[in-house]
Amino acid sequence: MTAQIIDGKAFAATVRAKVADHVARIKEAQNITPGLAVVLVGDDPASEVYVRSKGKLTVEVGMNSYEHRLPAETAEADLLALIEQLNADSDVHGILVQLPLPKHLDESLVINAIAPEKDVDGFHISNVGRLATGQKAMVPCTPLGCLMMLRDHLGSLSGLNAVVIGRSNIVGKPMAQLLLGDSCTVTVAHSRTKDLADVVRRADIVVAAVGRAEFVPGDWIKKGATVIDVGINRVAAPEKGEGKSRLVGDVNYAQAAQNAGAITPVPGGVGPMTIACLLANTLTACCRAHG
Ligand code: GUN
Repeated sequence: MTAQIIDGKAFAATVRAKVADHVARIKEAQNITPGLAVVLVGDDPASEVYVRSKGKLTVEVGMNSYEHRLPAETAEADLLALIEQLNADSDVHGILVQLPLPKHLDESLVINAIAPEKDVDGFHISNVGRLATGQKAMVPCTPLGCLMMLRDHLGSLSGLNAVVIGRSNIVGKPMAQLLLGDSCTVTVAHSRTKDLADVVRRADIVVAAVGRAEFVPGDWIKKGATVIDVGINRVAAPEKGEGKSRLVGDVNYAQAAQNAGAITPVPGGVGPMTIACLLANTLTACCRAHG
């Protein structure tokens, strides 16, 4: 069997087009423009790239983008004051503080200072609790994007065996909650799980989010399973020339594609869906704010 490729890049473009269409209708009918504020502290190069890309796509769907760049040595009180100001600003419907923050800043304190209804990352403790108890919540963007691709590919997920490899607060735990919400039988595995190969071999759905290059070999994948690879790992690629590198996922793609029914590529799978879901969450926050 050769797996169907789940094209996250194309799917993300359709999600963004739907968001753009809805934004245009809100502007027309209510004269409201959804606004997303992104706060970047310091000059981490990877964060710079993400923030620039978020800003560009925010504007492309017709929303207002507000970028706040603060120096690495910003005092916690000053960052909290900025968040307070954004919480009170009715033109700002979504707030995202880019992580990681410099070491002297308390990430949890900062995230929990964001008004929960503007927390488009879904990281605020109240959104985490709401998701866990099945209440209306802001849902973290990466797992939301994974769920949308799974539903699009499989239709109903009810009764399927799903394994999530990775237990992070940003991906693994919320992913497990979302799959439970769709009536999957969910196992949360991680790097210490005993007999991980056996656990994965029973799964109809595999979501890999461990952050280790090609950690999951292809022979762990059940015939016909759906594989969602969240990992983005840069590895050396001497075959492309000296000092060259390439991106790989947490799953050995070439091997897994022999067994899987469908699989997301890296790059071009989960990655583009994350920003598309951030824009969708900002639109949701705007709609909720304006009834
Ligand atoms: N840094 C890497 N991924 C993310 C994300 O999804 N949200 C935020 N706020 N920071 C990140």
